[in-house]
Amino acid sequence: MKALVVGGAGYVGSVLVEELLERGYAVKVFDRLYYGDGGLDKVRERVELVVGDMRNMDSSVLDEVDAVINLGGLSNDPTAEYNPKANYEMNTVATESLAKFCKEVGVKRYIFASSCSIYDVGVEAYEKDVILDETSEVAPKAAYSSSKYEAERRLLSMMDENFCPVILRYGTIYGFSPRMRYDLVVNTFLKDVLSKGYMEIYYGGEMWRPLVDVQDAARAYIACLEADEEKVKGEVFNVVYANFRISELALRVREALREIGIEAEIKVDYGYKGVRSYRVSGKKIERILGYRPIVSVEESVKNMVNKIKEYEYTDFDNPKYYNIKWMKLLEEADEIIKITNTVFEAPVEGYHRTLKTIKR
Ligand SMILES: NC(=O)c1ccc[n+]([C@@H]2O[C@H](COP(=O)([O-])OP(=O)(O)OC[C@H]3O[C@@H](n4cnc5c(N)ncnc54)[C@H](O)[C@@H]3O)[C@@H](O)[C@H]2O)c1
Repeated sequence: MKALVVGGAGYVGSVLVEELLERGYAVKVFDRLYYGDGGLDKVRERVELVVGDMRNMDSSVLDEVDAVINLGGLSNDPTAEYNPKANYEMNTVATESLAKFCKEVGVKRYIFASSCSIYDVGVEAYEKDVILDETSEVAPKAAYSSSKYEAERRLLSMMDENFCPVILRYGTIYGFSPRMRYDLVVNTFLKDVLSKGYMEIYYGGEMWRPLVDVQDAARAYIACLEADEEKVKGEVFNVVYANFRISELALRVREALREIGIEAEIKVDYGYKGVRSYRVSGKKIERILGYRPIVSVEESVKNMVNKIKEYEYTDFDNPKYYNIKWMKLLEEADEIIKITNTVFEAPVEGYHRTLKTIKR
């Protein structure tokens, strides 16, 4: 069985790819490598890597593929807000185009990485502060969540006897990945403690968040790959270990670190910062597939401390760990590199002519 993982070199992707290989799957990764291919270092020999942009894929990417897991595109609010057009093209349009190719060539199962941020009701909507599930009405407005929701709808509308879309709405993910991110709440807390000795919480930490560990996230994809078709076809599943208020989450991270001899302070800011808040049930996937996330925040935090040291991901200021910082930096560098097409190499002959044509 060969799985195509679009976005397979990313934070979730590099953990998922390892897990798939471990379980005996053949894996093809399609990725434009915004964050490089370091996340795949350990498995490079065993993975077929196709480098490209999901917006101009063609159906040949599906050669020999039996199932698709789509994790590609912009993966958080700040990057989506920064370039809503690119976000929509990747997260919605390319997601749908890939499904069309699947139907053309007969790849049936297509699992899509959606997000629980679709449920965001905002911290001030107290009357709406209830646990939502897959049947709850949602009306996402932000660029990221609405692009995911629109993609979900398009995929589900394409379902037929030969096409089996499955939607996984993930809570915010925590934990170690060989392509590390420190811009996800638990990982940010840990990074702040290790680099500054304290964590900061906003709005008194009052907001709710559903969370799940990255290994558990990978296991949920595999559960959906392996499930009988009638259990998953056209289904939406939330993937959530538990819901926490951010204040409680900070306390849990502090406690976990204390147990391994790391002391941390928590600084609280009570000012409003336009925060997201939502609580989500993960019961449906357990009921139907018998899948349940098992890695606690505390366990994951302790594991991260060791892995970060082992992989030397302690250069916490490096922008590559923060999606929005990295994308802005790439854009800035691109402007400069475009002038000569090189950094340290001598430019090829004729570049002076190109220089003259640059318009400011
Ligand atoms: N990390 C979370 O907390 C979380 C929560 C809910 C949902 N998700 C979703 O899970 C998926 C994976 O998230 P992640 O944290 O691994 O993100 P990530 O940013 O680490 O990885 C995304 C990967 O997709 C690739 N990619 C981006 N645009 C592409 C394009 N146009 N063409 C080809 N490849 C492209 C990137 O190079 C990267 O390797 C995303 O769809 C995200 O929206 C993530």
